Amino acid sequence: MLRPVYILTALLLGFSSVATVADTVEVTVRVDKPGAQISRHIYGQFAEHLGRGIYEGVWVGKDSSIANERGFRTDVIDALKNLRIPNIRWPGGCFADEYHWRDGIGPAEKRPVKVNNHWGGVAETNAFGTHEFFDLVEMLGADAYIAGNLGSGSPREMMDWLEYMTADNESSLAKLRRQNGREEPWKVAFWGVGNESWGCGGNMRPEYYADLYRQFATFLKSPDGNRPKKVASGGYNDLTDWTDVLSQIPSNIDGISFHYYTLPTNNWDKKGRSTGFPEREWISHLANTLKIEGHIKNNIAILEKNDPEGKIGLYVDEWGSCYDPEAGRNPGFLYQQNTIRDAVLAAVNLNIFHRYSERVHMANIAQMVNVLQAMILTEEDKMVLTPTYHVFEMFTPFQDSTFIPVEIDSSPEISSGEITIPAISVSAAKGAEGKIHNSMVNLDPRTKHEIKAHFTGFKVNEASGRALSGEQMDSHNSFTAPGVVSPVAISAKSDEGNIHVVLPAKSVVVLTVE
Ligand code: AHR
Repeated sequence: MLRPVYILTALLLGFSSVATVADTVEVTVRVDKPGAQISRHIYGQFAEHLGRGIYEGVWVGKDSSIANERGFRTDVIDALKNLRIPNIRWPGGCFADEYHWRDGIGPAEKRPVKVNNHWGGVAETNAFGTHEFFDLVEMLGADAYIAGNLGSGSPREMMDWLEYMTADNESSLAKLRRQNGREEPWKVAFWGVGNESWGCGGNMRPEYYADLYRQFATFLKSPDGNRPKKVASGGYNDLTDWTDVLSQIPSNIDGISFHYYTLPTNNWDKKGRSTGFPEREWISHLANTLKIEGHIKNNIAILEKNDPEGKIGLYVDEWGSCYDPEAGRNPGFLYQQNTIRDAVLAAVNLNIFHRYSERVHMANIAQMVNVLQAMILTEEDKMVLTPTYHVFEMFTPFQDSTFIPVEIDSSPEISSGEITIPAISVSAAKGAEGKIHNSMVNLDPRTKHEIKAHFTGFKVNEASGRALSGEQMDSHNSFTAPGVVSPVAISAKSDEGNIHVVLPAKSVVVLTVE
């Protein structure tokens, strides 16, 4: 058995992974022990009325000089199509619990202009509303995940919104929808009953929210064949009490949400920078993100206790990196740069979601365009794909694949001060076409690592794949240099049923074996 030898030398800088003699890391891919389906909904997106996420990011309006189709930026829509987005959560976030859907229907010039209280106090024109959202999801072939307003709305307002979307008869709300241009009902796949009800959604206790959930969910009715899965607003970070209370609701519940944001410093007043960060924040950021696995496990243990039949899913419907606001930008807009560190973080999280796919039925990265850990950044008529975009594109074969367990024979580790984390994260899955897809992540910012993968119960013929890496820890794409971090082909050797591949430092590799 080969054992990695990894020499850690303390540096004055505080980051200790310098001298390295990296041996081969042996990995066994247990194709003979397939697990649950990895739901495509783990690759969900989140698009809130926040900063330039919707307006400017996705929607510019029909009269814009920026190339658009029915008001949607054609560059952004074309790029998003490559991600095979399974669902989009909308209209928030915190915005959802202040959103009144009737403000966003009918002729645009007659829609009321409101204040977006949560996000910068800017004017919300309501130019983007229900019809525009469904136009977007239908263009992208995605499912709609509506976040309903429980915090400042009423059961009647919520039930009317669902009726407006789904009624197929002569009800006044169905007629109103038709009058506004949509004949057929829309398909509504998921319905969130409030958002972060412990905070911006109403500062509630779980017991009080659970009663409200039961009340609101009772009235969420729609025709057979168009019943959304209902998602209760759950906890965050290390909380499990929300999951505990909500999973005891006897019926009318399909999922409980869970939110986890990663900060390099874990300090919300000084989160850390998205670029130009020290090495210790490379490792602290990744160490903080890895903590999500413990939180998921703890919440799943509660679900196993209260819902042993496995009917209720854990929906990680907000996750990703969160940094200090960029200089010169509106801090309420949560715009941030996105580097190879974010790509590694995204891949590590996706590998974790794969591992718990039996209960993690959905995840939504925050957020799709121009906000937090975005897929795409825009500036007027320019657009750039972020390293995180490339991870989502490279991982598309994992959507609806079958989880395959992976055993890593002693991963090398990287350390900084008190913090030590594994340098390697691997996940595998079998696609419907019979190929084995492997996502291999090297969290080490300095050293490449060779992987020798052995596949049990599978005859290996050949392997091909792509790698995403960067020269610097904060390598990123910009409007002037959009291709700095882009996937490139990577070679892998096969011998006697094993695959050998070298993962560059700070890289994400997706390798398909057939
Ligand atoms: O994604 C930004 C905000 O973070 C969301 O509106 C809220 O749900 C969370 O606190």
